[in-house]
Amino acid sequence: MSVSVDSLFAALWQDYIAITPSAENIHQLLKQQDGSEEIINDHIALRTFNLDKIRLDKLGAHFLALGYEEKGQYDFEQKKLKAKHFEHPDDTKPKVFISELLVEEFSPEVQAIIHKMVDQIDAAKVADASFLYSGTHWQVSQSEYQTLLAVSEYAAWMSVWGFRANHFTVSVNHLHKIHQLSDVNELLKQAGFVLNASGGEIKGGEDVCLAQSSTMADKIDVSFTDGRLTVPSCFYEFAQRYPMADGKLYQGFVAASADKIFESTNVAPAM
Ligand code: NI
Repeated sequence: MSVSVDSLFAALWQDYIAITPSAENIHQLLKQQDGSEEIINDHIALRTFNLDKIRLDKLGAHFLALGYEEKGQYDFEQKKLKAKHFEHPDDTKPKVFISELLVEEFSPEVQAIIHKMVDQIDAAKVADASFLYSGTHWQVSQSEYQTLLAVSEYAAWMSVWGFRANHFTVSVNHLHKIHQLSDVNELLKQAGFVLNASGGEIKGGEDVCLAQSSTMADKIDVSFTDGRLTVPSCFYEFAQRYPMADGKLYQGFVAASADKIFESTNVAPAM
């Protein structure tokens, strides 16, 4: 089956809202308040491990095949992550931010849990674009989840949710009536949604040409090999881009802001 950019993002969106009901609600709320026909998606983010079978470039290859180009590279030393972002020549297509966890930087016990998960993936499936929204190919125990959670919220999230859009992002620049990220945030808070406050509700700003905010991830009851637990799923992000010196809107990402956005899937939100 041939895949187009639009059909791939439609499949990613359906998978995402199935475990992120608040995103669909916010999507409708913004369309209504803004009088928009549609909400433009600034970017999605995907997560993986830096193991050969499924490393960042394996996921990125699906976007290169659709005409995307690799642009920025980012390092998150404290979280033991590397990331790249990809852009399509048609700038109305969403950007893609893909990160990978540096598995070798963790203890043998943690590495063993991650290898056991990844060993269960059929390598042939990775080569199909549907792998990008295939979820998990394994099931962990609650104690394995807790072991991962103690050292990396990211690894724990991956053990439950696997391969799928970690978030979609509303492009504030493309809204019709709402022009400021702070106004989006107020609207969401009034409607009862909880924003990620780590590093302040708004990460970045005009000085770095990108301002971002996000909800805290929804909480979903999931099944482990030995019972059920309610854990964070995915979140919705909001981005306002500003022009650079040449007058063009900045299209990259800001590492310091992304570092805080990762915390939107933390089990206990930062105060
Ligand atoms: Ni993002």
